[in-house]
Amino acid sequence: ANYDQALHEEIRALAEERNAVILAHNYERPEIQDVAHFVGDSLGLSREAASTDADVIVFCGVHFMAETAAILSPEKIVLLPDLAAGCSLAATIDGAQLRAWKAEHPGAVVVAYVNTTAEVKAESDYCCTSGNAVEIVQSIPEDQEILFLPDMFLGAHVRRVTGRKNIHVWMGECHVHAGIDPEHINLQRAAHPGAEFLIHPECGCATPVVEAISAGAIDARDVHILSTEGMIKRPGDSPAAEFIVATELGILHRLRRAHPSKTFYAANDRAQCAYMKVTTLPKVRHALETLTHQITVPEDVAARARGGRSSA
Ligand code: 13P
Ligand code: SF4
Repeated sequence: ANYDQALHEEIRALAEERNAVILAHNYERPEIQDVAHFVGDSLGLSREAASTDADVIVFCGVHFMAETAAILSPEKIVLLPDLAAGCSLAATIDGAQLRAWKAEHPGAVVVAYVNTTAEVKAESDYCCTSGNAVEIVQSIPEDQEILFLPDMFLGAHVRRVTGRKNIHVWMGECHVHAGIDPEHINLQRAAHPGAEFLIHPECGCATPVVEAISAGAIDARDVHILSTEGMIKRPGDSPAAEFIVATELGILHRLRRAHPSKTFYAANDRAQCAYMKVTTLPKVRHALETLTHQITVPEDVAARARGGRSSA
């Protein structure tokens, strides 16, 4: 802890020298969340990256998030402390695959989840996050055919909530969220009968849980399908004292700090995103000292990615 504290102070001093802002996703290691100036979900991080007046953004998250920051703030230096911070979901579709899919559905509009490469965003009409996917689809005329990518579980959630029939969904998944199964939910429900569920829409269990609500097996009031930032806010508005959290484990640090009087259980205590954990304090210090690794997006791609009809 002392070592971390010294590093923390060194990093904050370096950030000040560089006029840098440190942004961290809710899944990052606790010590990274603590050193960051801002911690949030993809939507909050995009907004922060677009509005900051810092010269440098140190992005403690995964590659597509740093790329999104570079698209939104082309004049800033965007740093990713470790280039190994990828995303298995973003890797399920590339530009060529999307062009082929669009050719099969001429006239369809493309709604891309933010968990995609810049190249895929450049081929898309709308960019959404888990925090605004439903609203973005609702803003599109009812009779419009939609290609939604790349997450099939988020796609199923959007289809269910909006009631739209003409949405085609790319069959991608995040291995971390797909691994949270209905059995995990049932086990936790039996162990903590009074608890409320906070479920990320990327989870494989979201659809069976909604079916269980329809069948009367689970009370709808006990289930909330939310982005990570939505999960941080929910306990403050809820009468429940206990929560079962179906998403990546890193969020528990912020939940526990934000709501010390409430108790949080992981739906699956193996739901770790290795990509989010590669970023460490020494790597953040190194990034600030050497201004590496700079994430850039070719201006023509960035302009097309920004040019969508709505953006995260
Ligand atoms: P949020 O935007 O809800 O934080 O989700 C990001 C992510 O990578 C989910 O796996
Ligand atoms: Fe990608 Fe899944 Fe990790 Fe999120 S949790 S960054 S979707 S691999």
